[in-house]
Amino acid sequence: MEKRAGREPDRMQEIISLCKRRGYMFPSSEVYGGINAVFDYGPLGVEFKNNVKQAWWAAMTRRRDDVVGLDAGILMARRVWQASGHEEVFTDPLVDCTNCKERFRADQIEELTGAPDVCPKCGMKGTLTQPRQFNLMFKTYMGPVEEDAGLIYLRPETAQGIYVNFENVQTSMRRRLPFGIAQIGKAFRNEISPGNFTYRMREFEQMELQYFIDPAEEERWFTYWREQRWRWYQELGMKPEHMQWHEHTKEELAHYARAAVDIYFQFPFGWKEMEGIHDRTDWDLRRHSEFSGKDLSYYDDLEKRRFIPYIIETSAGADRGSLAFLCDAYDVEELEGGDTRVVLRLHKKLAPVKVAVMPLSKKEPLVALAHQVQDTVRDLGLTQYDETGGNIGKRYRRQDEIGTPYCVTIDFDSLEDRQVTIRERDSMEQRRVPIAELRATLAADLA
Ligand code: GAP
Repeated sequence: MEKRAGREPDRMQEIISLCKRRGYMFPSSEVYGGINAVFDYGPLGVEFKNNVKQAWWAAMTRRRDDVVGLDAGILMARRVWQASGHEEVFTDPLVDCTNCKERFRADQIEELTGAPDVCPKCGMKGTLTQPRQFNLMFKTYMGPVEEDAGLIYLRPETAQGIYVNFENVQTSMRRRLPFGIAQIGKAFRNEISPGNFTYRMREFEQMELQYFIDPAEEERWFTYWREQRWRWYQELGMKPEHMQWHEHTKEELAHYARAAVDIYFQFPFGWKEMEGIHDRTDWDLRRHSEFSGKDLSYYDDLEKRRFIPYIIETSAGADRGSLAFLCDAYDVEELEGGDTRVVLRLHKKLAPVKVAVMPLSKKEPLVALAHQVQDTVRDLGLTQYDETGGNIGKRYRRQDEIGTPYCVTIDFDSLEDRQVTIRERDSMEQRRVPIAELRATLAADLA
């Protein structure tokens, strides 16, 4: 069947509106007019993002012997951010427009306006101030008094919690190199130009792996992790034509990286970074050794050699990755007879609702049988029961729009033949199966 291409800016608006309408994401504090660049995940959004995080956790820890997990605090000693370099250089160049008073990132002006000295908001030329450096870390104070001694930061990346626990994990888990520590958690950045829905937020979640290696194996593991991370997105159904590599130039490299590549995704608003894979060398452990006075080197007892491990980092955004999966899955399909349907072709592992159960009529005894059928499949993941809203076609469309892979319909024949209809989201094909076999059939299909 032919598919409508969909104009790109419209497409983003359609996805944002679907997210709000169907309980995926809402603007934070909306009843008070909202707060910029923070979003709340609704009932379906939280399930969906949890599925993304669980898929990452399974691939990065459970299915491997060489990676363990960690959940470090968001608040850390201020010295951590001095050692990591963030206090000094985690900055963006900020310019103000003296006419409209709006603020922008200096390095984005030309991209937005095509000229280096034109205000992206009011369009005036020559009204932008000289750039000044603005630190992106949120400050807060520990203890009852707001004084410099109590100044701490909300972490801008989860990575540092891993570095300062390197020795704890290595010794408690009796690890030899190479091994990795994985973590999922919140990070905060006071972005100057947030936007594009959940693409750039001020509060977001990261899924990071820090892989500790012998410096002699730097290239091998950098290549290995690039391949692993690319494959992860594809195994979860992301279309290869929507992904590409971006190698950092010297100017783009973060202060801690010797080399870095990003996996870009083709969002409706353009090709943008989705994940970064960084060769951080021994920068982090060396700096934490220097600043803390604690020796964080590693002794290789086989080779009788002591060195500071190098680190290969894979740093993905849970929100940004989720948005990419949503954009990748969003489709408006033209059906025979001129009708269209919106369908989220999410991978079954990521879909928030796995099975929707629908009696053809609201009357007993169909309803009782439908509830019984739902109970047999509850352990397969989140299920929904829907007896509302007229014809079955409309109910199928509602499930298509939220990405539910399977609908199960109970009709009057079901009372006699003890069979139900499974309707598949992508092909819309229907097949009849005995109720006694339904759970096993769907478990196999969802596996
Ligand atoms: N530890 C390395 C690090 O934090 P990064 O390139 O600054 O590297 C890694 O961030 C990933 O975190 C990005 O690729 C993106 O997915 C996510 N991310 C960063 N800033 C974000 C923001 N403001 N909103 C949403 N996600 C963000």
